[in-house]
Amino acid sequence: MHDRIRHAGMHDRLMSAEQAAALIKPGMTVAMSGFTGAGYPKAVPQALAARMEAAAATGDQFRIKVLTGASTAPELDGALAKANGMELRLPYQSDPALRERINNGEIDYVDMHLSHVAQHTWSGFFGNIDLAVIEVAGILEDGRLIPSSSVGNNKTWLEQADHIILEVNAFQPAGLEGMHDIYYGTALPPHRKPIPLTAPDERIGEPYLHVDPAKLLAVVTTDAPDRNSPFSAPDEASRQIAGHLLDFFDHEIKRGRLTKTLLPLQSGVGNIANAVLAALSEGGYEGLTAYTEVIQDGMLNLIRNGVIKMASATSFSLSAAGVKEFNENVDFYRTRILLRTQEISNHPELIRRLGVIAMNGMIEADIYGNVNSTHIAGSKVMNGIGGSGDFARNGSLSVFMSPSTAKNGSISGVVPMVSHVDHTEHDTMIIVTDQGLADLRGLAPKQRAQLIIDRCAHPDYAPMLQDYYDRARRESYGKHTPHLLTEALSWHDRLVETGNMRTQPDLQAVSATR
Ligand code: COA
Repeated sequence: MHDRIRHAGMHDRLMSAEQAAALIKPGMTVAMSGFTGAGYPKAVPQALAARMEAAAATGDQFRIKVLTGASTAPELDGALAKANGMELRLPYQSDPALRERINNGEIDYVDMHLSHVAQHTWSGFFGNIDLAVIEVAGILEDGRLIPSSSVGNNKTWLEQADHIILEVNAFQPAGLEGMHDIYYGTALPPHRKPIPLTAPDERIGEPYLHVDPAKLLAVVTTDAPDRNSPFSAPDEASRQIAGHLLDFFDHEIKRGRLTKTLLPLQSGVGNIANAVLAALSEGGYEGLTAYTEVIQDGMLNLIRNGVIKMASATSFSLSAAGVKEFNENVDFYRTRILLRTQEISNHPELIRRLGVIAMNGMIEADIYGNVNSTHIAGSKVMNGIGGSGDFARNGSLSVFMSPSTAKNGSISGVVPMVSHVDHTEHDTMIIVTDQGLADLRGLAPKQRAQLIIDRCAHPDYAPMLQDYYDRARRESYGKHTPHLLTEALSWHDRLVETGNMRTQPDLQAVSATR
């Protein structure tokens, strides 16, 4: 471990995770590293959760506010949620235990654009940051930090927190050193300057994070892997979605709107996005680039086989097999991957300048192209908006993808009106389901509605949508975006009541055709 902690003075601050966790007091606002299941602190949060459970056993409540880069893993979100130790969480999560507490109303969750977190912190919207717990891969002789497998908001946390605890994780490969590009030029208005980045592979910062040694309370050593859920193997629906998208890219190339190297790709979280990346490797592409948030297995594979020559991101989101592949070949990947802070990886100015192709999963879209990425039946949060809004609003192409049905066909991915809006009809350009692809660019609302019904709806639901839309066109108060307001959300109501979006007669009609 001494070769990871090269600064002599830091050895004085070495302590156990339990000792470090004892520095965290109830009611504190604690910022932690971590972006998806990568680069999050692994020991201190678990020691903290044990203290919280001990407090609960004696009838005391020990809860804190937790800020991170994005979602983390069971050792952080899972442990603190199980201990009922969080009163507030932001800006993104995907942990089952935490999700349950949020949806039970036990934790306040601020679901927000990931590019906004740093500036909202500087502006003080989250109050004082009492402490930051940051995983790093090492500490240099001069005290600068080698970032870990994610950067996220770590620069901001190190700058803004009153005190710092570092976890130095020896599991992270030493070869991570040099893979990061930390830009120290951001500011709040009116002091902002153009960010000097014009291509995904450009470096505009330095490979290390800075920390004020006076703020450093503790250094804890760990040797534990990042933890991400494995991706499901691409199923038929995701293969069809990928096929439609690749056909669309070919069409755009023929029309001269894209070249064979496309434009920098952003690929969201989840199984569908991962499956699309897998399909790209068979699409005959080479020399592609990515300007994205996370590098998941599919993208690592594209880098490995040369389809993607360079990827810029803020984090990895790899399965255990992906981590092994990366760690064993870190020298190969270090020349092809740059990890940046999330305010840069998700920066609207840069996404717009680079013309990023944004590809994200969704829960549902409505017939006019509004997209819900986050809420089941309007009120139960799934994960969060993450970076999808940063990319969709500013990309040159904004694609949303979903199977046309969920939960064995009982839910339609295309509905009359979305039950929650994350991306408006003004931001959505392309909707893809296993049924087909709707290119909404240049279309008026009624044109969009018919195309989405024709191309994207599942055959079990298309007649129901057509019936709704036909009646809305006849009976709607206004004829620009026809809706029947008392009926528009009835599909979700029915889902909550019966577990199915279809009415009894609809179900009978569907089974009669089989
Ligand atoms: N109603 C109810 N549940 C639905 C649903 C719907 N309309 N659509 C999907 N789901 C459920 C699926 O059944 C599945 O549930 P399970 O985990 O119990 O099997 C789960 O949502 C995931 O769906 P899946 O079809 O496997 O897609 P995915 O893994 O690609 O995830 C999102 C889809 C929308 C949840 C995911 O893309 C997401 O969280 N997006 C928002 C954040 C984001 O885009 N970040 C990227 C920015 S870089």
